[in-house]
Amino acid sequence: MRKAFEPKVSIVTGAASGIGRAIAAELVARGSRVVVADLDADGATRAAAELGPLASAATLDVADAAAVTALVQRVTAEHGRLDVMVNNAGIAIGGLLEELDERHWDKALAVNLRGVINGVTAAYEVMRAQGSGHILNTASLAGLIPAPAMLPYTTTKHAVVGLSTALRAEAASQGVRVSVLCPGFVDTPLLDDVYAAPASFGGSSVRARVRLLQPRFLTPEQTAKRAVDGLAANKAVIPVGFLAHLTWRTLRYAPPVARAMIQGQATGHRRLNERAARRAASR
Ligand SMILES: NC(=O)c1ccc[n+]([C@@H]2O[C@H](COP(=O)([O-])OP(=O)(O)OC[C@H]3O[C@@H](n4cnc5c(N)ncnc54)[C@H](O)[C@@H]3O)[C@@H](O)[C@H]2O)c1
Repeated sequence: MRKAFEPKVSIVTGAASGIGRAIAAELVARGSRVVVADLDADGATRAAAELGPLASAATLDVADAAAVTALVQRVTAEHGRLDVMVNNAGIAIGGLLEELDERHWDKALAVNLRGVINGVTAAYEVMRAQGSGHILNTASLAGLIPAPAMLPYTTTKHAVVGLSTALRAEAASQGVRVSVLCPGFVDTPLLDDVYAAPASFGGSSVRARVRLLQPRFLTPEQTAKRAVDGLAANKAVIPVGFLAHLTWRTLRYAPPVARAMIQGQATGHRRLNERAARRAASR
């Protein structure tokens, strides 16, 4: 029989904006208190105010393990429990390998991977002790299929899928559930804020390039609804959107076709770079 999903206390990281904010709203709508945790203190305060009395704000850098543990411990002590931990904060990195340097790798590893490890470790300790709880990690479609021209991103997101699905197996006997969210492209500020974007991008937005792969973006609300429905159904992996379902299934059932699609993406990105370089040279 399916256990009722009625969370009372949740923490969502990266909840000042985009998918995290929408997941926080979805959890509030289901009656949970939600701590809106984000590096952006003003954004977290604004989001919590908009979400109403069940929401509160916390300033948090997920890359800071001690700060993540302190927040999880404080929230648990205040409310006597922690039902849902959503490790969602993340950043976008784009560019071919030769365009990237140590900064890109270090930042992606610190936020997109260590950030999730920090949240998982802190929440798991509390949830194991209480014998219940659900951890949701936000990976990406780029965690299910190789995504060229964003290697640090796809590397960290694959790691988040591995971490989540392996921990799910360890955690089951402890009463703790673990799921991983893998959306296609979602219309959020992340698409306009590529970390230290290489010049070939022609600005820090990836919108024009990813539109070639997925002409219509998902909304954060659609994504959050699927995420929280996935939690209620205790899904291991929660792909969201047509592109995510299509490419993930293609990789599993027709690997040569998927590999050709991935090769096409890499070739297309390189061609766009070359065109941008020619345009710049002729100016
Ligand atoms: N937008 C997409 O197309 C898409 C697709 C798949 C997966 N994702 C993933 O979804 C998650 C949320 O992204 P989004 O699209 O909602 O982006 P967003 O930019 O709207 O939100 C990300 C939030 O994370 C916060 N953040 C960044 N670094 C942080 C840190 N060190 N500590 C705490 N908070 C931090 C930002 O301040 C921001 O509020 C990310 O993990 C992202 O990789 C996004």
